[in-house]
Amino acid sequence: MNRIFSGMQPTSQLHLGNYLGALRNWVALQDQYECIFCAVDLHAITVPQDPEKLRRSTREIIAAYIAAGVDPERCVLFAQSGVSGHSELGWILSCHTPLGWLNRMTQFKEKAGKHRDNAGLGLYGYPVLMAADILLYKATHVPVGEDQKQHLELARDIAGAFNRAYGKETFPLPEPLILGEATRVMSLRDGSKKMSKSDESDYSRINMTDDPDTIALKIRKAKTDPEPLPGALVELETRPEADNLVTIYAALAGESRAETLSRFAGQQFSAFKVALVEVAVARLAPINAEMNRLLGDIGELDRIMRRGAERAGEIAAKNLAEVHDLIGLLRP
Ligand code: TYM
Repeated sequence: MNRIFSGMQPTSQLHLGNYLGALRNWVALQDQYECIFCAVDLHAITVPQDPEKLRRSTREIIAAYIAAGVDPERCVLFAQSGVSGHSELGWILSCHTPLGWLNRMTQFKEKAGKHRDNAGLGLYGYPVLMAADILLYKATHVPVGEDQKQHLELARDIAGAFNRAYGKETFPLPEPLILGEATRVMSLRDGSKKMSKSDESDYSRINMTDDPDTIALKIRKAKTDPEPLPGALVELETRPEADNLVTIYAALAGESRAETLSRFAGQQFSAFKVALVEVAVARLAPINAEMNRLLGDIGELDRIMRRGAERAGEIAAKNLAEVHDLIGLLRP
């Protein structure tokens, strides 16, 4: 059976980009694939974290997965640090990854900024750990937003290099699944920037935990242009903010961008935004309520994560034993 692995960083609250670009697709995919979903806390610590906040965000992220519709009975849900194989395979794969490949990673360049020499080795090796996450389970498919495409290509390159080095198809080359209308949700303040947890303006994103009033306010304040909505998709190409809001609407309403345009063509943004608030609140409020309910029972969330780590750990141990044998690590 084809197997899915994916994860999100518990760095702060999830936002609409995480939901539309990834989480929502996971819910749909769990019917067709064996699914393993992780809160990647080891990735989160590649930049400084407050320990108490990290613990809280890890539980929140697992609660968000379940609240959005991921079934903890059918899917394996856990915190990455609960299966030590991630770190171990990360090390082994780092010994098979040329520095030149890592030097091409744009996310490292963005995150390290001008002070490259001060960036941690973990931040540099981040994509190798990500490859290890996927390959540890021999996952065949990885549902992510568009921003992870380059990391996925690297994971495929590392898998290929490892397979060639030992003359055996040990790891399948994982396929990215970049699905839906909103594979790259942009900032509400600047249509040329990705919606992101790290943007200092909270008005740039809709958080999964925002209440209806906050969602309405952020959408009302979202940047637009003075023109009414166009009738054809090509006309959005030069209007990034309009394009983004149409994309968000279409994804939330479960229709294509063309369908959204055909209904709103010629209307002003003031009217369109009212409809957008309505669909956003209708979609997000129930998830928010369910998340809060789940977070009221931390014991149950921890049980789900422990059980998930056990199931993931069994698969990981088997695959790691195979890797140890292949590369000559002795297990007397
Ligand atoms: P992270 O935590 O930044 O994001 C989690 C998921 O949300 C998607 N995403 C977006 N999609 C559309 N528009 C946006 N503005 C947007 N922002 C984020 C991301 O593409 C991602 O799917 N490196 C990963 C976490 C990771 C991982 C893995 C993913 C670690 N190991 C193994 C898959 C497989 C990351 O930082 O995601």
